[in-house]
Amino acid sequence: MSRKFYITTPIYYVNARPHIGHAYTTIACDTIARRQRMLSAETFFLTGTDEHGQKIERAAQAAGKTPQQYADEISAEFRKLWQRMGISNDDFIRTTEERHKKRVQELFRKMRDNGFIYKGTYTGQYCVSDELYVDGAQPGDPCPTCGRITETVHEENYFFKLSAFQDQLLQLYANPEFIRPETRRNEVISFVRSGLRDQSISRSTFTWGIPVPNDPKHVIYVWFDALANYITAIGYGSSHAGAQEAFKKFWPADVQMIGKEIVRFHCVYWPAFLLAAGLPVPKAIVAHGWLLFEESKMSKSRGNIVRTETILDVLGADALRYFLLREVVFGQDGSFSFDALVQRYNSDLANGLGNLASRTLTMINRYFKGEVPYPSKAASRKPADDAIVELARKTIHEYGSFFDQFQFSRALETAWALVAAVDKYIVENEPWALGEKQDEDSRSRLGTVLYTSAEALRIVTALAHPVMPEATAKIWRQMGLGDIKKVALNELAWGQLHLGTKLGEVQPVFPRADKSAIERMQKMEEQGRGPVVEEVNVATAPAKVEPAAPAVPAPIVDGGKISIDDFAKIELRVGLVKVAERVPKADKLLRLEIDIGTEVRQILAGIAEAYAPETLVGRKVVIVANLAPRKLRGLESNGMIVAASLEGGRPVLASFLEDVPVGARLK
Ligand code: MSP
Repeated sequence: MSRKFYITTPIYYVNARPHIGHAYTTIACDTIARRQRMLSAETFFLTGTDEHGQKIERAAQAAGKTPQQYADEISAEFRKLWQRMGISNDDFIRTTEERHKKRVQELFRKMRDNGFIYKGTYTGQYCVSDELYVDGAQPGDPCPTCGRITETVHEENYFFKLSAFQDQLLQLYANPEFIRPETRRNEVISFVRSGLRDQSISRSTFTWGIPVPNDPKHVIYVWFDALANYITAIGYGSSHAGAQEAFKKFWPADVQMIGKEIVRFHCVYWPAFLLAAGLPVPKAIVAHGWLLFEESKMSKSRGNIVRTETILDVLGADALRYFLLREVVFGQDGSFSFDALVQRYNSDLANGLGNLASRTLTMINRYFKGEVPYPSKAASRKPADDAIVELARKTIHEYGSFFDQFQFSRALETAWALVAAVDKYIVENEPWALGEKQDEDSRSRLGTVLYTSAEALRIVTALAHPVMPEATAKIWRQMGLGDIKKVALNELAWGQLHLGTKLGEVQPVFPRADKSAIERMQKMEEQGRGPVVEEVNVATAPAKVEPAAPAVPAPIVDGGKISIDDFAKIELRVGLVKVAERVPKADKLLRLEIDIGTEVRQILAGIAEAYAPETLVGRKVVIVANLAPRKLRGLESNGMIVAASLEGGRPVLASFLEDVPVGARLK
């Protein structure tokens, strides 16, 4: 029976459209899954979306949709994108699916029956953005992970006896393969050594979640619900024999890949939940670093995301896949830039593999009528030929070991060292000069040189297939070799390219990209990037609250301080944006019509560079309602929107985490 291999990505929140940060994890897993299939493992690759919890409920509310509608839309975007990129996942789980909900309840029941769940009261701080209980924080404290102000939660909850698992967890971590890389393992060990507190695993103050079995006033904590996807998707808790079989076959997972910010959930809570349910724990949890753009973690709230579609449109999926795996040292943070992407593409793909393929195959066409030649005389061999054979053998071996240790960039570096060596070999052996001669020795020598180059090309192409499935399949077809997916990587060896193999049609695989490719991508991002959507709690926002623009005179100031009566003179109200449009010939200005409960006001705001008008309609904002009207570009502005002013003057609109009625006064 063949070996099985089960790999998972985290399931992505549906409060943000997919960007290349999400694509990074998915690509890494897809590459591993493809390699495992080529190593003949029966592979199951799972991804999906995380759709419950307060964060999604609020995001849906802000968008004026039901949480289900909202989740349906964004989850579909993830699926569409993965399909477009040719991601080879075997299933896509959504946490709002019935199969998942029932099985999560089963898991909860099992843990409760085993005595690891009890009822208590939780009072403490909670970060909605990370869906995280922040132990030890005081009201008003920021979340240690994202810096947003935490909210106070005081409610009856179900608790999980996490404290009972300290020793068992530490025993798991003794295995160095369990958490990778080493730095993350050490962090987790010291966290667990410092003591574990029981963990609240239900909420009762909102409803968007899976009801606790036999106590539907509570919904199951979204991280419990989400982590369970890794087993519900393959059949845990199902009464169907087929599903039970699948679960038995694939669990425990071989690799669970995650970003470094969710290590604690996966390396502490998740194995403890499994132990409490009497289930085996995963074999390896592998954390990668962050993709940075403009020096900080790419994320919707920072407004510094790069959409995957832009790169797909201009350079294609393989270019992105190669770049991310080659450029970022796995486990560490890595920067993304369009310049670096295009540079890598040109040097390694257009000039590297692409050029090797086209020059080798074109010469076989020209000098051997499109049939792979073979050296006819042993005497015509030179040490340079054997050096390539030796290097290719070493490459197959090293590539595999780096890859299986998740060191993708080193694996690719090794394979591309072979590409460079073959390039040099071609230049030094001048097959074009040999091709001009008709004597037997020259023909034999030419056969050797072209066979050696083509065989090395075949080996690099096969090794790189999991990383660049489309381009390598094209090269494979051009080499007349059929279906590249059928290659058994564990049998890959020098000398398998047969004499006389008939080439297919030779075409360039990686056309060179010029500067305009960078400009095109930058432009597409400027036009298409969504607005910055920062949840700023007006009462506690750390950044100073000041007018977005146009600037207005400062309020009454007396020695730097104002009295409460002075403050009371400023009428701050909740408004709902009804209409938003650009003001012709004014790059920064938007004209807004805002309902403030008693009337609809026209307000002009200098936020057009940060917000696309269509994204503001339906959004609740804070306005200064009693400001004297003034005219801008011939239009009357009757009030002002309140925003935090970030670095470079970038405005971020003040908004609310809870729903608030239109017209409500802020005081
Ligand atoms: N829903 C939770 C995970 C639950 S898993 C049981 C979640 N979702 S997320 O959408 O916010 O992030 C999921 C993953 O996306 C991260 O762990 C990481 O793998 C990937 N990334 C999102 N932004 C990223 C970067 N900027 N860089 C690298 N990876 C990023 O957390």
